[in-house]
Amino acid sequence: MDQKIHEYEGEAVDVTWDQLRCIHAAECVRGLPAVFDTDRRPWVDPDEAAADAVAEVVGRCPTGALHVERHDGGPAESVPERNTVTVATDGPLYVHGDVTLVDADGDTLLRDTRVALCRCGASANKPLCDGSHADVDFEAAGRVERGGDPVEETGDLTITGSRNGPLLLDGPFELGGDEDGTGFEGSDAALCRCGASSTKPFCDGTHGSIGFTTGDE
Ligand code: SF4
Ligand code: FES
Repeated sequence: MDQKIHEYEGEAVDVTWDQLRCIHAAECVRGLPAVFDTDRRPWVDPDEAAADAVAEVVGRCPTGALHVERHDGGPAESVPERNTVTVATDGPLYVHGDVTLVDADGDTLLRDTRVALCRCGASANKPLCDGSHADVDFEAAGRVERGGDPVEETGDLTITGSRNGPLLLDGPFELGGDEDGTGFEGSDAALCRCGASSTKPFCDGTHGSIGFTTGDE
């Protein structure tokens, strides 16, 4: 997993942007066009809005490409009490919560509150989404048609990118789609990241028969 982090310093708040995690969802540009202006260089100017507003919009970045560091004593980004996984139509899995991403050897790749995970199989920066789903015309419903067992407990969610196989979720989470469908709650699941499962977003074992590789031999 690679990073390409740019830093934009402001009076009250600094903004960092990991170019490799940005899939141009444009939440930032829509939220604060004076701060996030792709026609300007540098394209981020944290001083163009109040620190609270910058932090709030940064917290909407669904991939975790954006983060803030405050110098004004303002609140840090809060960690949601419930972990949610949203299956995007023709796109990635958006995870919001207390998330630790682990590789197949058990090494921690990152801890974050927001992350977008590849589920089409084409990202060059697995397990993160790099926007390749659009290049490969990935088509998959943003729907979850399997229920689960309600989980009362809260806590952190560990997601392991298994070698040549699915994403393994361990910890309480709610799984839903950006289309209508049944919501799933659980504390463990294997989610497809090869793009070929017939039971998406869940893994059905197809990754083995199509020779899916995650490139982390
Ligand atoms: S909200 Fe995040 S992913 Fe979307 S364009 Fe801005 S930085 Fe990129
Ligand atoms: S990862 Fe796609 S079927 Fe298992």
